[in-house]
Amino acid sequence: MARPKVTVIGAGNVGASVAQRVAEGRLADVVLIDIVEGLPQGKALDLAEAAPVVGHDMTVTGTNDYADTAGSDIIVVTSGLARQPGMTRDDLLSKNMGIVRSVVQASTAVSPNAILIIVTNPLDAMCHVAMDASGFPAERVIGMAGVLDSARFRSFIAQELGVSVSSTHAFVLGGHGDTMVPLPRYSTAGGVPITELMSAERIDALVTRTRNGGAEVVALLKTGSAYYAPAASVAQMVDSILNDRNEILPCAVLLQGKYGVDGLFVGVPVKLGRRGVAEIVEIKLAPDEQAAFDKSAGSVRELVDAMARLAAG
Ligand code: NAI
Ligand code: 2OP
Repeated sequence: MARPKVTVIGAGNVGASVAQRVAEGRLADVVLIDIVEGLPQGKALDLAEAAPVVGHDMTVTGTNDYADTAGSDIIVVTSGLARQPGMTRDDLLSKNMGIVRSVVQASTAVSPNAILIIVTNPLDAMCHVAMDASGFPAERVIGMAGVLDSARFRSFIAQELGVSVSSTHAFVLGGHGDTMVPLPRYSTAGGVPITELMSAERIDALVTRTRNGGAEVVALLKTGSAYYAPAASVAQMVDSILNDRNEILPCAVLLQGKYGVDGLFVGVPVKLGRRGVAEIVEIKLAPDEQAAFDKSAGSVRELVDAMARLAAG
């Protein structure tokens, strides 16, 4: 039986790391594609030459030609500009919407049954562009942000309590921006909500650090943004899809009434399986949590409106 095929668009920091995790995790053969000549070929060759040491038989191919991506099961879109110090995610809007539209059109034309995982920022807005450019049904257009934001929250919870990260669970919902909504009531260590384990002040500190998680890495790196944790987050989504695990993961998906939102991509818990989004899981939000979620959805709405203005010229 043929192995699954994952195309990763953008051979930069996130894209190359996704290619490595997918291949070395033995999840699928990988095609890495970029607009820059030589870059995807060089990184793919380097990854392929690591295979004997790592001990896997996945193929990793680099290309500038979308014909090589044909028949992909999953297309991961990381192409675009990364956030620089002092630059907000929203500043990326106008540049990245053009890039995402063109790469989604080119890749989905040759992989009409693929599932799209969008990574390029501003994430929620780029999901709208991808859905429009592909014409795919909503269950096959999924944004990666919630897994990353929740992983950051989990790592801070584990450090705070001195417990294994594997004992932690966290949900961060909403848009992938400053208004994201970490949910302490639904975040646990050993199955116990952290609201029972930490003071309100410490929880507030961890929530604030989670909201600033991307910016904290940017400030340290100075020349780019995070990629190890983002790539690990994409790989978890790829695994849940290709192996039909139906993991419940927070992802940006098109809401059509659930959580009181209609027609917007916002991060919520979803069951991810072989056909993409198998189900949007609706959890009960307290009034303050719903208000924070509504505010976050409002920020996504502003971006979508801004894109419409830009598109209209
Ligand atoms: P990077 O600059 O290292 O890589 C981007 C790559 O895209 C470059 O190799 C570039 O040549 C390529 N590219 C640009 N235009 C292209 C086109 N038209 N066709 C094909 N390739 C093209 O950036 P990095 O760090 O990999 O980040 C990529 C994107 O992911 C950024 O927008 C960043 O903000 C976003 N990001 C989103 C996260 C999330 O949680 N959703 C987490 C981390 C990054
Ligand atoms: C992050 O959260 C840049 O969105 C990216 O690290």
